[in-house]
Amino acid sequence: MIPLKVSNLVKKYGDLEAVKNVSFEIQSGEIFGLLGPNGAGKTSIISSITTIEKPTSGSIELFGGRVERENKAAKAILGVVPQELVNHGFFSAFEVLEFHSGYYGIRSNKKHIEFLLNKLGLWEHRDKKIKQMSGGMKRRLLIAKALVHQPKLLLLDEPTAGVDIELRASLWDFVRELRDSGTTILLTTHYLEEAEELCDRVGVINHGKLIKIGPTKQLIKELTSRQVAIYLKNKLPPCQHINLIKSNAQEKSMLFEISNQTGIGELLAQLKFPMEDIIDIQIQEGRLEDAFVKLLGDKNELTS
Ligand SMILES: Nc1ncnc2c1ncn2[C@@H]1O[C@H](COP(=O)(O)OP(=O)(O)OP(=O)(O)O)[C@@H](O)[C@H]1O
Ligand SMILES: [Mg+2]
Repeated sequence: MIPLKVSNLVKKYGDLEAVKNVSFEIQSGEIFGLLGPNGAGKTSIISSITTIEKPTSGSIELFGGRVERENKAAKAILGVVPQELVNHGFFSAFEVLEFHSGYYGIRSNKKHIEFLLNKLGLWEHRDKKIKQMSGGMKRRLLIAKALVHQPKLLLLDEPTAGVDIELRASLWDFVRELRDSGTTILLTTHYLEEAEELCDRVGVINHGKLIKIGPTKQLIKELTSRQVAIYLKNKLPPCQHINLIKSNAQEKSMLFEISNQTGIGELLAQLKFPMEDIIDIQIQEGRLEDAFVKLLGDKNELTS
């Protein structure tokens, strides 16, 4: 059964159409990333799935069941990490997780709470009051909260915003572990490196429209090119090749940009450099960031 199916979703706030006829599906056991600039409509899509917001039109199905407001089945299936940090002020991390379990009618899950606190690097902070926690700790607690009832589908809206690089990497590992143990994951992120590292597939939202969707690797392959640096032993031969970007006489190197469909052998055959003259060939594959520049025109819009 398909964990999530969004069909022709439209979300308007007054005159503003924040989500414009968006349709996509998430496959079981994948990490799917929704990417797009600020205000693109990512949170509006998530809020429609969680029924915090009522869609203007369109439908959302979770494991084959249509999502309605106050839907009990949906509540049990979904774990949600909201973008906004909420403050539980005077309660400790442990208490927050216990209360939240109660909200799902779960009582004796102390072991699972301990597991989550450990996994999210919160064990030593378990007795801290929330108001004494840093932003990154609060973000991790939100993730633990979303997982107390072991949901089948986890929605993470900017899960690593404000989390330092080291912790971000351990969170990625944890998200992968969750995926590998059968949880399906939808996340939004501003970090393209994160999406590239983590997401099996990505969808790109811009001005409320889904402008691209596909497996991350395939999307990168389709939208980017490779840079090939060739280092030569002797002085550079004259070269008029159309893919030549620059030559460096001092380094005795030449940089070419070729499509992902062009083989290195093909390039070398065209160049006809004597093989014994080639010291090194370095290939730099395109990044998701490059794919974004192609799609949106300006990466700064997204990475800022
Ligand atoms: N409750 C609301 N009322 C009115 N307008 C809203 C509301 N929530 C969002 N919007 C508007 O809808 C558009 C999409 O916002 P949304 O929060 O979905 O974007 P986003 O892609 O999540 O952005 P970000 O990357 O900044 O989190 C924006 O123009 C935003 O101002
Ligand atoms: Mg958002």
